[in-house]
Amino acid sequence: MINKIEIENLNAWFGQNHVVRDVTMPIADRSVTAVIGPSGCGKSTLIRCLNRMHEVVPGARVEGSVLLDGEDVYGRDVDPVSIRAKVGMVFQRPNPFPTASIFDNVVAGLRLNGTRMRRSDLSEIVERGLRQAALWEEVKDSLGKPGVSLSGGQQQRLCIARALAIEPEVLLMDEPCSALDPIATTKIEELVHQLKNRYAIVIVTHNMQQAARVSDRTAFLYLGELIEFGDTETLFTNPSKRETDDYITGRFG
Ligand SMILES: Nc1ncnc2c1ncn2[C@@H]1O[C@H](COP(=O)(O)OP(=O)(O)O)[C@@H](O)[C@H]1O
Ligand SMILES: [Mg+2]
Repeated sequence: MINKIEIENLNAWFGQNHVVRDVTMPIADRSVTAVIGPSGCGKSTLIRCLNRMHEVVPGARVEGSVLLDGEDVYGRDVDPVSIRAKVGMVFQRPNPFPTASIFDNVVAGLRLNGTRMRRSDLSEIVERGLRQAALWEEVKDSLGKPGVSLSGGQQQRLCIARALAIEPEVLLMDEPCSALDPIATTKIEELVHQLKNRYAIVIVTHNMQQAARVSDRTAFLYLGELIEFGDTETLFTNPSKRETDDYITGRFG
């Protein structure tokens, strides 16, 4: 597998609180990498370091490097906005813009980036984004309806369409199914499986069955440290660390 990202000796703090501790791991291209571990162990912080979102919190700090196609996203002349355009993110709770239509939600990220486009080009982008997010057939006749009028699972796919509309190379998903019912969860998992043909995907999940189902490689974090990283099947069936075994068999966490 070709690595899209190399995380090297990454450390992150909130003030004095050292929450990501010297993490080194790759993120493979066209593949799904799961990040698992108990609540508060630094999963969200780790992935937010990958697109320079961690540093927007006052007092937050990062050390180490994140090489995206070999270039450090923390390099001296790198514009964080350009990194966030390449490394898109989907959050735990679907968060469509409350007053925007389905159409306008999909193109919202482009507008935020200041891209000016003709309506016909926008229509193409909206259709492509919604198709990629497996939502097009359900909403193509109601693009003017508010995004928030959709079901929770549809809203999450709308947020995925919004993230894909800016044509990222990497998609970060922070517990994208934790607010969804089992059917909507299955849809998102199927979608992740399709999207990995085109993107490097990192998915944080507290659901170990989900990690086992959707990912190719898994990282187990505990108290900010990367305890074990490897092929998903091996990590779940034959972990090499005692802590991993304890966690996946439910002995703690
Ligand atoms: N905005 C924040 N300000 C200060 N501390 C935070 C903030 N977000 C998270 N933390 C702390 O950082 C640690 C790691 O949190 P987080 O990365 O959210 O863990 P996880 O996603 O694994 O639940 C926790 O101790 C948490 O309390
Ligand atoms: Mg989290």
